[in-house]
Amino acid sequence: MPDIESLLKEKRVFKPAKDFSRQANWNKKTAAEYRKLGEKNPERFWAKMAKENVSWFTPWKKTLQWKPPFAKWFVGGKLNVSYNCLDRHLEGENAWRRNKAAIIWEGEPGDSRTLTYGQLHREVCKFANVLKGLGVKKGERVALYMPMVPELAIAMLACTRIGAPHSIVFGGFSAEALRDRINDAGAKVVITSDGGFRRGAPFELKTAVDEACKGAACVEHVVVVKRTGEKTAMKAGRDQWWHELMDGASADCKPAKLDAEHPLFILYTSGTTGSPKGILHTTGGYLTHVTTTAKAIFDLKETDTYWCTADIGWITGHSYVVYGILANGATTFMYEGVPTHPGPDRFWEMIDRWKVTIFYTAPTAIRTFIRLGDEHPKGHDLSSLRLLGSVGEPINPEAWMWYHRVIGNKKCPIVDTWWQTETGGIMITPLPGAVDTKPGSGTLPFPGIHAAILDEEGKDVKPPNGGFLAITHPWPGMLRGIWGDTERYRETYWSKWKNIYFPGDGAHKDKGAYYWIMGRIDDVMNISGHRIGTMEVESAIVSHPDVAEAAVVGRPDEITGTAIVAFVTPKGNVDAGPALADKVRKQVTREIGAIAKPKDIRFTDALPKTRSGKIMRRLLRDIAAGKEGVGDTSTLEDFSVLAKIRESDED
Ligand code: WTA
Repeated sequence: MPDIESLLKEKRVFKPAKDFSRQANWNKKTAAEYRKLGEKNPERFWAKMAKENVSWFTPWKKTLQWKPPFAKWFVGGKLNVSYNCLDRHLEGENAWRRNKAAIIWEGEPGDSRTLTYGQLHREVCKFANVLKGLGVKKGERVALYMPMVPELAIAMLACTRIGAPHSIVFGGFSAEALRDRINDAGAKVVITSDGGFRRGAPFELKTAVDEACKGAACVEHVVVVKRTGEKTAMKAGRDQWWHELMDGASADCKPAKLDAEHPLFILYTSGTTGSPKGILHTTGGYLTHVTTTAKAIFDLKETDTYWCTADIGWITGHSYVVYGILANGATTFMYEGVPTHPGPDRFWEMIDRWKVTIFYTAPTAIRTFIRLGDEHPKGHDLSSLRLLGSVGEPINPEAWMWYHRVIGNKKCPIVDTWWQTETGGIMITPLPGAVDTKPGSGTLPFPGIHAAILDEEGKDVKPPNGGFLAITHPWPGMLRGIWGDTERYRETYWSKWKNIYFPGDGAHKDKGAYYWIMGRIDDVMNISGHRIGTMEVESAIVSHPDVAEAAVVGRPDEITGTAIVAFVTPKGNVDAGPALADKVRKQVTREIGAIAKPKDIRFTDALPKTRSGKIMRRLLRDIAAGKEGVGDTSTLEDFSVLAKIRESDED
C-alpha cells in the first residue's frame, strides 16, 4: 500500500472550535459517554439510540439476534419509516413543523419548489394510495428510475408507507442495466419521468424504461412524472401520468405497522464478480442508524438548511438526502442538475442564495472545484456554512485543506465519513463537536461501531502498518443480504474471516488510533465516488462482436480519483484504432451507462496471463498507471506480451 507513506507525513491537527462544541448535538461529554457505552455494550448503545431517535408503534423484545452472518435488530418491534419522516413532525410538541420546509428543491433551469412537512405528508399519502390502486401490496417491489425531482422522495416515502420495498436505479444507467435490475427485483411497477434537465438541456428517461420493459415481463404499470414536457410515448394500459393518478387520490393513508426486519429497499451495487448485487436493507435498524448518525455527525438543528449533493440513486442519497434528514425533522435541499451550469459557480451561488448551512459532497467534486479556480467560490458569500462533509472516496489532504480554507473559511468542521452501500449508514467519521480532525483521515469509528485493521489471517495489524479494514461486530444499518442470493452474501462479506465483515477496503491506523482509508483492494473501481466492477465493464466490452478479449483496470486520475483503462484485443480481422475505440465506448454506454465508459482504451494482441490463464491485473494496473519497473512477473506465461502492451497506442 504505497500511499500510506505519504499520509503518514500528514501531521496537521484541527481541534473543534469551542463555540461549535458548545452548541453541538453531541458535545465532548456526550460523545465520550456514548463512545464508552458503545465500546462496552454496543447493543445497549443502539437500543438507547433507537428509543431516543425513532418512534415505534410496538417496542422490540430483543435488541440483536445474531446468527452469523445473519443479524436481526430490534426483534419484534413495529414501526413505519414514512411515519418517522413525516407524521411525527405534525403531532404533539413537534406539530409546529407542519409549516417548516422539509424539501427545498431547485431545478437546473432555476425553477424551485418547497414542500413543507405538511405538504410532503399529503403528497406521500396520496401517492401511497395511488400505489395501492395499482395493486401494489406489502412486500411487492417498486422500481424508481427518476431524475432528482421531489417526486422521487415522495415515491420513496409512499413505498415505505405501505411496506413496498423500493429499488432505485440511478438515472444515468442504461436501459440494459435497468432491465437487469427490474428483473432481479421482480418489480411490478416502475416510476419514472419524461426526463430531467442537465447541462442546460432536457434529457429523456422514459424511452429507456420502454426499452427495459421489453424484456421485463414482471412490470404491470409505469407511472410517469411530467418534468420536461417533451413529447413522450405512452403505452395504453401500462403507462399513466403521475399527475393524473394523483388528481383523484385520497390524502388519507394510514402508515402500515411494519416489522423491524421488514424489507425497506434494495439498492444494486457493483461487486468483483458477476452482475451487480441487490443490497437489501430493512426497516428498524437502518432507520436507527441513519437517524442517529445524521443527528450526531451533521449536527442537524431546526434552523439548518442541509445540502447533500449526492443523487438519490446512490446510497448517500437514500440515507442522507432523504431518510436520515427527514427523520430528524430537518430541511433537506435538493438540486436537479450539474454543478457547472450555467456557470462554474452554480453551487456557490445556490449556497449564498439559499443560505445553506451544512454541505456534504464528494472529493471528486472538490477536486473539480479546485481546478475551476478559487474565484468562483470567492465571488459569493458562503458565510452561512457551518459544517462541511465529504464522502465516497478517500479525500487527499490537499483537497481537504482547500475545502477547509476556501469553502469553510477555516471555521467549519469537516466530517470525512467512511461507509458503503452495504453498511447503510456512516461507520467511521469525526464527531464535529468532539473529535480533532486530521486532513485525509476519517478519524474514529462511530460509537457502537467496532472496527479493526486485520491481516489475511484475521490478526490485528500493528499501527501504522496497512491491512484490511474490518467490522468486527454487527451494526443496525448493516445489509441483511443480497437479494435472492444468500450464498453470494456469505461468500462476499463473511468468508475472509470468521464472523467478521469484510468491506473490501485497505486502511491503516496511526499511533493516535485514527483510521486512514486507502481505497478498494479488490477489483472494484471507485470512479468519481461511484463503484464500478472491472468484470462488469469487461463483459460489456466483450459483448461487442469485434472484440475477442478485454481486461479493465483503474488508474489514478486527478479529478475522478480513478479512471477506467481498458486493454482490448480485437478479433483477428478487425482493425484496432479510433473507430473501434468509439464502438467499445458506445457498447459500454449501452450496456451499463456513460459512467462506466473507459477513459483510455489500449489495443493489444494479447493480455498478460499466468500459466493457468488468469489475467495478471496487477501488471496491467502498473502499466496503466505508467509505472516504470513492473513488479513480479515470475508467473507470466509470455514475456513478449508485456513489451507489446507497453508500446500499445492510446486510441
Ligand atoms: C469508498 C458510498 C475513503 C470505499 C457511501 C467504500 C471512502 C466505497 C469513503 C463505498 C471515505 C466511501 N474515505 N473511502 N470517506 N467513503 N469510500 O457503496 O472504498 O458507493 O468501500 O458507498 O467508497 O461506495 P458506496
